[in-house]
Amino acid sequence: MTSAVALLLTILACLLLLCLVYICVLIYGRFTQQKVDQIYDKTYLLIYASQSGHAENYAKQTAEQLVKAGQHCVCLNIEDLQVEQLKRAHQSLWFVSTYGEGDAPDSAQVFQHQLTSQRLDLSHQTFAILAFGDRRYTNFCAFGQRLQDLLIEQHAQPSFDLVCVDQLADADLNTWQTQLSQFTQLELSRVPTKKVWTDIQLSQRTLLNAGSQGTGLYFLSFKVEPGLQWHAGDIVEIQCANSQQALEEFVNQQPHLNASHIDALRFKNLRTAPVFVKQEQEVTGWIDALSHLPLREYSIASIPAQGHLDLIVRQEVGQQGLGLGSGLLTTSLAIGEKLTASIRSNPNFQLNTSNEPCIFIGNGSGLAGLMAHLQQRQALGHQQNWLIFGERQQQYDAICTAELNAIENAGYLPQIDRVYSRDGLALAYVQDVLVAKSVQLKEWIEQGATLYICGSLMGMAQGVEQALIDIIGIEGLTQLKQQQRYKRDVY
Ligand SMILES: Cc1cc2nc3c(=O)[nH]c(=O)nc-3n(C[C@H](O)[C@H](O)[C@H](O)COP(=O)(O)OP(=O)(O)OC[C@H]3O[C@@H](n4cnc5c(N)ncnc54)[C@H](O)[C@@H]3O)c2cc1C
Ligand SMILES: Cc1cc2nc3c(=O)[nH]c(=O)nc-3n(C[C@H](O)[C@H](O)[C@H](O)COP(=O)(O)O)c2cc1C
Repeated sequence: MTSAVALLLTILACLLLLCLVYICVLIYGRFTQQKVDQIYDKTYLLIYASQSGHAENYAKQTAEQLVKAGQHCVCLNIEDLQVEQLKRAHQSLWFVSTYGEGDAPDSAQVFQHQLTSQRLDLSHQTFAILAFGDRRYTNFCAFGQRLQDLLIEQHAQPSFDLVCVDQLADADLNTWQTQLSQFTQLELSRVPTKKVWTDIQLSQRTLLNAGSQGTGLYFLSFKVEPGLQWHAGDIVEIQCANSQQALEEFVNQQPHLNASHIDALRFKNLRTAPVFVKQEQEVTGWIDALSHLPLREYSIASIPAQGHLDLIVRQEVGQQGLGLGSGLLTTSLAIGEKLTASIRSNPNFQLNTSNEPCIFIGNGSGLAGLMAHLQQRQALGHQQNWLIFGERQQQYDAICTAELNAIENAGYLPQIDRVYSRDGLALAYVQDVLVAKSVQLKEWIEQGATLYICGSLMGMAQGVEQALIDIIGIEGLTQLKQQQRYKRDVY
């Protein structure tokens, strides 16, 4: 055999080998694809869209339950959901809240846009939605409803009717649990609420805005149990309660009530009580039938390293008197008295721990969430912080000046803009500052800044969003949202 023939044979052998390898790769690829499809066949895809953490907690706890019952689950934040993942899923479970005026939570806005602008064939998929909301809003659970319509338009089939939850009502959550158990044919017990309750004791309360045209804004400081932990940006949930004085007055007005009934009435809504207990033997049933006082949420204004839990609370005044939560915090709770509270993580408002710049924007009681972040930035040694804060009049509403000066003097607040809407100045609102300083704003954003917005949804947060759209365009804002650099704690 000549050397040329030998070379030809070697080349042919190599080609044959390559073909074999290619065929093997194809077969393996198809096999693994089949395996992936089989896994997706049997996997529950759980997706949550949550602004302040309730829907997220519920989704994660449901995933735990399904796993305990031997099921495969993938649980994803809607902002991390890829369209391909959704297309592959055979069974999806959605846990979504509604924000703003019937809007999707911030984390869901990009996905909502994708779903409206694409045609997906989800005909192989069944889905169920647990929608969190509050009936006091006009558009009750509107995002849940809209999501249901969008999924049906993409030919997915509902496993059972949309379940709407009004203010975390037990009855609504039980309905979902029953439906899910029936559909999955699994024995799923009610997801336990993982709230950890703690006592916090009021040690200081100061009116911050004496003389203001607005209602009272109070700074409150609480002693906490040693070791209590939270992150900057978290929320404290307060169990509303009647003050001792209110309870005593109430039992004195009722012929068949006395001091022995005070404990049973402490967490009952006395404002909704029917006028009188008619007979002594009806007292227990009458008290049991009174509605339970609600929880109220407040942004924490301090970090654990400071050793106390601070709040900034706006007093709500209505025709019926003071608001249940703010009235308790700003008036009836005495110094030294304790409250039952629970810390809730607020994932959409957590601080990025990198040392990239931060822009903090807010108004009124919104300074609470921003203060905690500024304290944390100082603790981390991250200096490039810009605060833009709005109130009404400099003379009465320049709140927390000493605290902000201390942060500024320590070098952690190189840029601060305080604006007042009723002083007749050119820059009246925080959004006006954004527009006036748009060059600097863009520079900070280019340097990787994250924006944190805390305070009123109406007016402030909406105005800020519009100003950002005008300055960096809708694409720029969408990009910030996708990169989790636009974080809000607005209410
Ligand atoms: C994520 C988040 C963070 C928040 N952070 C803060 C914060 O840092 N600081 C802050 O101040 N607020 C904050 N809030 C708002 C706060 O949770 C409360 O909504 C606010 O304090 C008002 O609650 P309230 O119980 O005082 O008023 P409500 O009791 O809800 O009362 C509202 C109005 O209704 C009237 N009313 C009350 N009960 C009755 C009744 N039975 N019949 C008729 N009318 C009645 C009251 O007089 C009042 O005018 C936050 C909210 C959210 C969602
Ligand atoms: C500023 C704000 C706006 C809200 N808007 C609505 C609304 O339009 N419709 C609704 O049903 N619920 C609304 N809610 C109630 C929330 O959906 C409800 O509190 C829900 O439990 C929050 O769940 P999350 O913590 O997972 O975001 C709103 C709540 C806040 C604080």
